[in-house]
Amino acid sequence: MRNRPLIIVGGGGHGKVVMDIAEMMGDFSLLAIADDKFTTIQESNDILCGPTSIIGNLLEADQEALVIIAIGDNRSRFRMAERLDLPKERYAKLQHPGAHVSKHAIVAPGTVVMAGAVVNTTASIAAHAIINSGAVIEHDVVVGPFAHISPNAALAGAVTVGEGAHVGIGASVIPGVRIGKWSVLGAGAAAIRDVLDHLIAVGVPAKVIDRT
Ligand SMILES: CC(C)(COP(=O)(O)OP(=O)(O)OC[C@H]1O[C@@H](n2cnc3c(N)ncnc32)[C@H](O)[C@@H]1OP(=O)(O)O)[C@@H](O)C(=O)NCCC(=O)NCCS
Repeated sequence: MRNRPLIIVGGGGHGKVVMDIAEMMGDFSLLAIADDKFTTIQESNDILCGPTSIIGNLLEADQEALVIIAIGDNRSRFRMAERLDLPKERYAKLQHPGAHVSKHAIVAPGTVVMAGAVVNTTASIAAHAIINSGAVIEHDVVVGPFAHISPNAALAGAVTVGEGAHVGIGASVIPGVRIGKWSVLGAGAAAIRDVLDHLIAVGVPAKVIDRT
């Protein structure tokens, strides 16, 4: 079967990791890297680099082509998805071969699961989320769209992470706790109580220090 052509949106550090995962999976052939930092369209080794305005034509020309938005910042990823306004079928789902995702977990298109991550049974990860390297997503966890679970963060059973929320590197959340929409749990924090929407919480145990 033909490898699916892939357009990676975002040519920064996160984009590089996503490109590496796509290569490791072997299911895709890289068609283009789209980023508005490119002012002209260039081609090397059959890969196009150009501004995001090239995406529409590329998708029209090749109905098999898929897109992944590889922008690390949650709000910027959200804005890009709004701008592109593509049906979910046009988004790729990327999973590093060295990640463990249960057959009984759901991972939506547009989401990336990185090396060493564990997504356990009956967890549910919505579209355009990032499950970063070594993150642990336990059973019955619900991760909302555009959320980011950073490297080595751990979400215990039945945790809920709202839309656009960011769980920082090495942070932990005890069972059943909810991290609200567009909230940030700081690096190394331990959330033992719910964090409401649009708040920043840090420390062990996590305490709110600001709004987002
Ligand atoms: C929580 C966070 C978003 C706060 O960033 P910020 O709004 O720029 O906050 P500041 O750096 O101005 O710090 C504000 C205060 O919170 C404290 N603080 C910040 N982050 C903290 C953390 N993770 N744990 C404990 N305290 C923290 C600072 O020491 C400072 O305290 P002070 O006012 O007593 O000096 C950020 O520090 C953080 O942890 N981000 C996570 C990044 C991450 O994991 N990225 C992963 C990428 S893959």
